[in-house]
Amino acid sequence: MAQLKHLLGIEGLNPVSVTNLLDLAESYALLNRSGKTQRDSLRGRTLINLFFEDSTRTRTSFELAGRRLGADVVNMSVATSSVTKGETLLDTAATLNAMNCDLLVVRHKSSGAPALLAQKVGASVINAGDGTHEHPTQALLDALTIRRNKGRISGLTIAICGDIVHSRVARSNILLLTMMGNFVRLVGPPTLLPGSIGVNGVEIFHDMEEGLKGADIVMMLRLQKERMTAGLIPSAREYFTFYGLDRKKLSYAKPDALVMHPGPMNRGVEIDSEVADDAARSRIKEQVEMGVAVRMAVLDTCARSNY
Ligand code: NCD
Repeated sequence: MAQLKHLLGIEGLNPVSVTNLLDLAESYALLNRSGKTQRDSLRGRTLINLFFEDSTRTRTSFELAGRRLGADVVNMSVATSSVTKGETLLDTAATLNAMNCDLLVVRHKSSGAPALLAQKVGASVINAGDGTHEHPTQALLDALTIRRNKGRISGLTIAICGDIVHSRVARSNILLLTMMGNFVRLVGPPTLLPGSIGVNGVEIFHDMEEGLKGADIVMMLRLQKERMTAGLIPSAREYFTFYGLDRKKLSYAKPDALVMHPGPMNRGVEIDSEVADDAARSRIKEQVEMGVAVRMAVLDTCARSNY
């Protein structure tokens, strides 16, 4: 596989590099299921998880992924309240350089923070979510989940629904899914859709029935209240009525359409529990499982280009 020193976004990857990462991740998924998880490809390497924003599944899965490959894993959670962004990042970069860390996984509320760090540290930098910009490993794990279930990751109609404007998950998914030749639809109220997408081949819908018609995949997003500066929705109850995924709205999609959500879910706001927990239609748990496999593939690939 071509060299991949950093993974800062889906932007910068191409269909071949995406396919290579998914293939490697698939082999780790099979290995993880077989119980033979201990590998030593990162033995002697140091992975630092540097999280300036809260996270449950992303941080844990990077930690598990690193350990399963034999790396020494250190978690650093940084309080954001008292320090200004610039100082924190540059000070932290200097500290990390002194520690000779090999892999640096970064989550930050500012878009572009991982890219800035990548210029300042010797380590491979992996973006674990920066502001509203990108969350590349989430898009890769979503793609792997889709490919395992649909047998391909091209020519599918994928409806991404809800709070698109604040979502780095949506942005990375739009880039990856269009690059691989899928039909992407964005469905949500005008206040939660971006003014322009800047990507060809993306259709916009404000109505769930129209947007979900004929969809193979229905990807729901969390209402990101922490990123909303104004009241962009009238109320959670009204939002659920028009945009919350329940059985009725899911019936507009293809009969075998699958439901996805990156988590954490607001049950009863963007998704009904009945749909989220329906083992026949929901792939939300598999997404979490694939998260570990994809992060193993990314860490492994970045570490190898760092020799
Ligand atoms: C997402 C994130 O943090 O961007 N969560 C995740 O990584 N699984 C989505 C979200 O917070 O809604």
